[in-house]
Amino acid sequence: MVQLIKKKRDGQSHSREEIIEIIEGFVKGDIPDYQISAWLMAVLWQGLNEDETAWLTEAMMNSGEVIDLSEIPGIIVDKHSTGGVGDKTTLVLAPLVSSVGVHVAKMSGRGLGHTGGTLDKLESIEGFKVDMSPQAFIERVKNHGIAICSQNAQLVPGDKKLYALRDVTGTIDNISLIASSIMSKKLACGADAIVIDLKVGDGAFMKNLESAELLAETMISTANRMGRKLVAIVTDMNNPLGNAIGNSLELKEAMDTLLGEGPDDLTELCLTLGSQMLMLAERVDNLEKGRELLLESIKNGSAIQKFYELVESQGGNLEMVKHPEKLPSTTFSYDYRSSQSGYVQSIFAQEIGLAAVSLGAGRETKDSAIDFGAGIMLLAKPGDKVEKGDVLMRLYANDKAKFEIANLHLDRAIIFSNEKPEKSPLIIKTIQ
Ligand code: URA
Repeated sequence: MVQLIKKKRDGQSHSREEIIEIIEGFVKGDIPDYQISAWLMAVLWQGLNEDETAWLTEAMMNSGEVIDLSEIPGIIVDKHSTGGVGDKTTLVLAPLVSSVGVHVAKMSGRGLGHTGGTLDKLESIEGFKVDMSPQAFIERVKNHGIAICSQNAQLVPGDKKLYALRDVTGTIDNISLIASSIMSKKLACGADAIVIDLKVGDGAFMKNLESAELLAETMISTANRMGRKLVAIVTDMNNPLGNAIGNSLELKEAMDTLLGEGPDDLTELCLTLGSQMLMLAERVDNLEKGRELLLESIKNGSAIQKFYELVESQGGNLEMVKHPEKLPSTTFSYDYRSSQSGYVQSIFAQEIGLAAVSLGAGRETKDSAIDFGAGIMLLAKPGDKVEKGDVLMRLYANDKAKFEIANLHLDRAIIFSNEKPEKSPLIIKTIQ
């Protein structure tokens, strides 16, 4: 391993066998964390070429079972977001797309840093299980047209271990490492086609369009080499998505969206990503038809019914979702008020995400427990006119002292202007 670390440190390329040796050795526990950490840092500085990125993806995919969904008829589609603040898209999109007859087989993640995770949001429903065997996953997709699972010892353990190490060694932000991490999970879950919601901006891992485009191209080439179709939609993550940030608050907002009563930005994003999924699944032959089908499913109640079916099939308490007032809530709330009059120009997503984590909605250490009810509701969004003293956000926590820490983030989060700001586009571009 020392030779392999030096090789990458000195800017040389690895062979396929070397990459396999590194990942297999790490997963088995033969190569210690400190050597992998040094190798990751060398990768961060020197990069991986296209071949190395594809081999790393393949090695991580093969670190556990690779699910074979070929017995399920039709094209199976998956969706992945690169992570953001208030991003509850999967909670809407997976049942919405499944409700019009396209199978959705999805492996999701947990919150990371200032960004939230689908699994944590789903686990705010009492009893909801995300850890399942590959066989149970296949059965659920077969019987219900939808399943959402977590990584575990059987599914992509290589990425699970590597990801945890990257998180604490400053080695997240490398395009090849991000692309192989995402793609290994998508490929191991057996989907034929994948839509990536590639977030760019202050609250995303990709801070500018150039790096987002490079990540999209890297994922497309990896997917194509493995015989899969992939479309990346670059979307704005300078401002939080929707109004709710925090697990049960976001779950409730996702259900409102499935009922046709969600915020405009979230609804628009779900229709855009969803119609791409329907195109890839060959359910429709143009995006407009896809959008119509999805809107009809929201209108006639099929979308929310599919969400209820998902909850029931994964052991969740249906009463809780049918009566959202029974979802976890907090003892205290606090109104954050505007320090001035004017227009809200932007709301920095990263600061809002960090404020939500400090209220208990995310993990401050690897082992912290999540407070499912904690979070923030945005009562003003960019473009809104506000007066000094208006409530801009409502904060929720089970410990009043947490409001003070959250306020430090929120004081840095909002930019005001005297003029009505121009609306920045939510959907930036599609790359395929
Ligand atoms: N999401 C992932 O699954 N992996 C990364 O490396 C970054 C975001």
